[in-house]
Amino acid sequence: MSAKSDRSDVPIDWARALGAVLAILAWGLACGGDGSAVRRHTYPPDFRYIPEAELHASMQELAWQTVEIQQVLAAPHLPEASRRSRVLESLQRMEDATSALGPGGWPSNHPRLSRNLDAFREDIRRARRGVEAEPANYFFARSVSDACQRCHVRDR
Ligand code: HEC
Repeated sequence: MSAKSDRSDVPIDWARALGAVLAILAWGLACGGDGSAVRRHTYPPDFRYIPEAELHASMQELAWQTVEIQQVLAAPHLPEASRRSRVLESLQRMEDATSALGPGGWPSNHPRLSRNLDAFREDIRRARRGVEAEPANYFFARSVSDACQRCHVRDR
């Protein structure tokens, strides 16, 4: 954790950002490795099929916003007002990104996702409530990547 103190302008360090995303990608995905298979089953009527493209787009957004929050919180010279509004915006985007994944607690082609989706959304809202508090509390925003582990588990 050796922060370079001569970075006063752009708070995004893309090398670190990429590293963070790769670290996330390196986590074991607990959903099985058959995501690319084209499936043509007849599903029961309440079954929700989450297209891989939507899942991919949502996860990319979650990953980038997670990185953005880390970077904003690590930027030493950012005025508090912009720190707060940028973190709130990222959390909002994360919440929006989950909406394409459908209702939680619903049978789907990604059972683990559907099982944990509502709890994950609640993690994001909790982070937002902290940031909205007076004074802002960034604890849960800072550790929002922990919430990814509701679905992403490290290899054991
Ligand atoms: C509610 C469950 C759930 C949560 C929470 C979750 N993910 Fe995912 N994620 C998934 C599933 C399911 C996949 C697809 C795995 C597969 O196809 O095997 C995935 C895949 C990904 C991928 C690869 C996506 C691609 O297609 O390129 C990334 C990156 C990712 N997640 C990042 C994150 C980050 C960052 C967070 C936390 C901010 C997060 N995820 C939280 C369920 C979740």
